[in-house]
Amino acid sequence: KNSEVEKIYEINILAARYFYSNLQQNGDKVKYLLDRGLDIKTIKRFGLGYSLNSYTSLLDYLKKKGYNEDLLLKAGLVLKGGKGYYDRFRNRIMFPVFDYKGRVIGFGGRVLDDSKPKYLNSPETPVFKKGTNLYGLNFVLKNGVPNDLIIVEGYMDCIKLHQHGVINTVASLGTALTKEQAKLIKRYCNNVYLCYDSDAAGKAATLRGIEVLHSEGLDIKIINIPKGKDPDEFINDYGVEEFKKLIQDALPAIEHLIMAAKSNKNLDNPRDRVMFIKEVVDILRILNDEVEVQAYAAKAYELTGIAPHVILEQLNIARKMKN
Ligand code: CTP
Ligand code: MN
Ligand code: MN
Ligand code: MN
Ligand code: MN
Repeated sequence: KNSEVEKIYEINILAARYFYSNLQQNGDKVKYLLDRGLDIKTIKRFGLGYSLNSYTSLLDYLKKKGYNEDLLLKAGLVLKGGKGYYDRFRNRIMFPVFDYKGRVIGFGGRVLDDSKPKYLNSPETPVFKKGTNLYGLNFVLKNGVPNDLIIVEGYMDCIKLHQHGVINTVASLGTALTKEQAKLIKRYCNNVYLCYDSDAAGKAATLRGIEVLHSEGLDIKIINIPKGKDPDEFINDYGVEEFKKLIQDALPAIEHLIMAAKSNKNLDNPRDRVMFIKEVVDILRILNDEVEVQAYAAKAYELTGIAPHVILEQLNIARKMKN
């Protein structure tokens, strides 16, 4: 059983090398990555590749290397249909997913156009468990134990930031940050910056992410990217120095949430003030430090004129309702 796991790691590294060499032989696919602002060195470092537009190329390659189809299926690299086995990843830009030790545990494959699904990922395998890994962590750790980590959503966000020297970046790959990922972070540092896409999905994920990270005791700041963009797009448009300013401007999670609640309201209007206070109470439920609660209740008072003790009473009611 253990040797099966070892074999899957072997298969994965062979597949990654195979995809890499395919990419090198397909200049138009390299061009896609260069057009997205990656350089040759980055492509190599992150082992980016290309899966051919074929149903059996990887299958044939790995079979020739002596691996049986059943194992390739377990590795998540092939699928089994009525007519036999065939490659899972076809005509996609391939991102090997490394674990913190730099072992290849799976793959993400991106289409080169606007077709769906945009990304196809390895299924769960004996070495690939969804939500237990942080993409890019192996590269972060090459520079020693970080003081803080920046968490982004996607492959390209993470790679682009590393290329531009923001080398403490990891990606949660998708938007649902898990408790296991938070625990993994906690092994290395106490401070995280959440930097999700500034679209509706990213904003919702930021809220959930804050709760997960906070429950592991992490200190959280939120990097707010303007105009609905993601970190990759922002750097393409404005450059890394502007991104570093966003890091500087990052607010502690609670302040970020309060500012976000305020942003779509007119606090001169009593109804908006009521709405705002309700949202603030909801936000303060995350906190378990009474000193912090008092400080933010005072802040909300400043903004609305609603007395801190009223806010605290509402908070106590809300806490009881949750329990
Ligand atoms: N994702 C996924 N499957 C999808 C869409 C997204 O696994 N169908 C994951 C990928 O890891 C992706 C991340 O979620 O990198 C963030 O998704 P999204 O913001 O939609 O994609 P981007 O990373 O911005 O993709 P790109 O820049 O390549 O267009
Ligand atoms: Mn997104
Ligand atoms: Mn998107
Ligand atoms: Mn993107
Ligand atoms: Mn994105």
